[in-house]
Amino acid sequence: MWLSSSANARRNETVKDIKKKEEQISIPLDYIANIDCINGMKKLPANCIDLIIADPPYNLSKSGDWKWDNSVSLAGMGGNWNITNENWDSMSFEEYFSFSLAWLKEVKRILRPTGSMWIFGTYHNIGIINVACQILGIEIINEVIWYKKNAFPNLSGRRLTASHETILWVHTGGKKRYYYFDYEYSKNGDFTGDELKSPGKQMRTVWDLSNNKKVEELKYGKHPTQKPIKVLTRMIKLSTKPGDIMLTPFSGAGSECVAAKMCGRHFIGFEIEKKYCDISEVRLANTEREMEQLNLFQITQEAPKDDKTSD
Ligand SMILES: C[S@@+](CC[C@H](N)C(=O)[O-])C[C@H]1O[C@@H](n2cnc3c(N)ncnc32)[C@H](O)[C@@H]1O
Repeated sequence: MWLSSSANARRNETVKDIKKKEEQISIPLDYIANIDCINGMKKLPANCIDLIIADPPYNLSKSGDWKWDNSVSLAGMGGNWNITNENWDSMSFEEYFSFSLAWLKEVKRILRPTGSMWIFGTYHNIGIINVACQILGIEIINEVIWYKKNAFPNLSGRRLTASHETILWVHTGGKKRYYYFDYEYSKNGDFTGDELKSPGKQMRTVWDLSNNKKVEELKYGKHPTQKPIKVLTRMIKLSTKPGDIMLTPFSGAGSECVAAKMCGRHFIGFEIEKKYCDISEVRLANTEREMEQLNLFQITQEAPKDDKTSD
């Protein structure tokens, strides 16, 4: 159902509209660039993005080899981030804090006052990101608990089974709080399967969504921390309008971009590892094909009705 409404949204937007947006931001829309996100965001003008979905490294792997490149300085941040292959998830506490401040500072500059950002995390990193947001004057709208009832059991039996992730929903628009929120969708959208969401009732800050992915989400290659499309489409629909621009600084296997495309939103992605950009490219091309097939199917389904009317 949502595929068809997104297709309509895309049809309503002319090529001229899209070109105009591209000229304003001087970077191709609907594209994932294989570059460091801080460098990527620096290429964008201020106030040009409607939504950011950030799934940053949680800093869980502890065997990495990060480089701190002091050749370029970020005002007040102490250096420039450079990353080596396969080691994007391992930093010291100080490095992670500075890294978080550095990318959040760019986010604050490029996000429109009407926009907002969702940030994924766990207890390993979300406290640091929370503090970094507060230092930068990025206001937290909500803290969402993504409850995964199918979480993998704890094998050691030495602690509780970790079964949630924390998501911060934030905005940069100051006290006026201009950020877009589709309240109607949040109350009356289709959230089948979420046992904590009653139809017609306000959405709560605990989301009951399994971490399972559909076959199509995994068949073109996997990412170790891939997010399910259903979580991402929920975020996109809650906080953007059709034709808006979603940016994802840590695009991984492209899930956020695939979700944006399905919802009829534009996207910009940054990903440091080429192998994940390659997976994303194939996923996006197939999403396009699947959406076209669905459109064709819907048009043929609608045809007999049209014929009757014209009789
Ligand atoms: C948590 S994963 C994102 C997974 C993504 N949400 C998905 O569903 O496929 C984080 C990604 O950020 C990338 N990354 C780490 N540091 C980066 C940086 N400075 N700039 C761009 N990408 C980076 C990593 O290579 C990794 O693929």
